[in-house]
Parts: sequence; structure tokens; C-alpha cells
Amino acid sequence: MNIEANKIAGAVLSTLLVVMSLNMAAGIVFAPKKPAVAGFELPSEEPAAGAGGAAAPAAEEPIAVRLAKADPAKGEKAVGACKACHTFDKGGANKVGPHLFGVYGRNEGSVDGFGYSAAMKGRNDKVWDADALDHFLKNPKAYVPGTAMAFAGISKPEARADVVAYLNSLSDSPQPLPKP
Ligand code: HEC
Repeated sequence: MNIEANKIAGAVLSTLLVVMSLNMAAGIVFAPKKPAVAGFELPSEEPAAGAGGAAAPAAEEPIAVRLAKADPAKGEKAVGACKACHTFDKGGANKVGPHLFGVYGRNEGSVDGFGYSAAMKGRNDKVWDADALDHFLKNPKAYVPGTAMAFAGISKPEARADVVAYLNSLSDSPQPLPKP
């Protein structure tokens, strides 16, 4: 082994030594803080229940319970959002969507002469009862995947019950609503 090689090896070794000690020193100064639990901590969205104010948003009440305190008059106001596409009066025409007089108790996708989507047409063995309407109006595309009804849905459970109660009233002989 010649002297040059020794010099080079020495230089490499001392460089390594410097790097290692710097690393250790940094480790001491900037000690990495390990979280107690791996992963991120997400802020919890649910406000603590009970503490004075309004009750925490619980699971939705069944439609029958909501219907017992529903207000068809409020529902009538709420369907303003539907009138771009639907008529609600007796003998009303089909527009972008089928006429809705008497929809409660009607088979799904069953208005003659209205061009339903294949998704809705395929369901005309089912009936628009309170439960079906409640689910459809919450999220049309979730209840009838592939529906042509371009409407996001009514998220408030009470508001939906108001609309269902109003829809039921649009009939010559409104049906008894389900009892809680
Ligand atoms: C942008 C237009 C549009 C809006 C707004 C809209 N709808 Fe519809 N609706 C439609 C269309 C189109 C259909 C037919 C869907 C299909 O064929 O898949 C439909 C279907 C329905 C049906 C099923 C009727 C049947 O004969 O089977 C109900 C019930 C209904 N809509 C209620 C409502 C209510 C209540 C609102 C307001 C809260 C509303 N819609 C808002 C376009 C609309």
C-alpha cells in the first residue's frame, strides 16, 4: 500500500467521522418528537353531547316519527325548488320531470308518456311510499343510481318529512301516513 492510498483512505474516514458526529449532534439538538399514536390526529367534528346547548346531531329519526310532526304547508313552500322541473297541481303537465300530483302511492317511474331514465323505468314494481320518497329526496342518485333527476337532495330530515307530507296531500284521497 502506498502513501497516496493511505492519505485518501484517511481523508474518507475523517469525513465520515465528521458527518457522523454532526448527525449525532443534530439528533441531540433537534430531537425528533415521536407522536404517541402513529398517524395524524383529525379534529373530531362531533360536538360533545349534553353540554348545555342543542343535542348532538343524532341518527335521523324514522320517517314515521318525523311525519307525525311534519307540516305540509312548509313542504309546499319547500317544493318551490322542484318547480323548474315538476308540476304539482291536478292534471298538471310533465316538464323536465313527471307531474307529481298523486305521486304518493304511485308506482315508481309509471307516468304514461313520460320519458323516464332506464334506471327509473326499471323500478316500476316499487311504490312511492313515505320511506321511498324520503330516501329518494335525501339523495336521488344514491336511491336510484342512474336517475335523470338532476337534484342534489334535501339534506334536512325534517324538511324532507314536510315535503313527503305535502306530496301525500296532493291526491283526491290522501292515504294514511305511517304511524310511529
Ligand atoms: C332539474 C330538474 C329536477 C328538479 C329540480 C327536481 N326533479 Fe324530480 N325528477 C326530475 C326528473 C328528470 C325525473 C325523472 C327521473 C328519471 O327518469 O330517472 C324526476 C323524478 C322525480 C320523482 C319520481 C316520480 C315518478 O313518477 O316516479 C319524484 C317523486 C320527484 N322527482 C320529486 C322531486 C321533488 C320533490 C323535487 C324538489 C325537492 C324534485 N323532484 C326536483 C327532475 C327534477
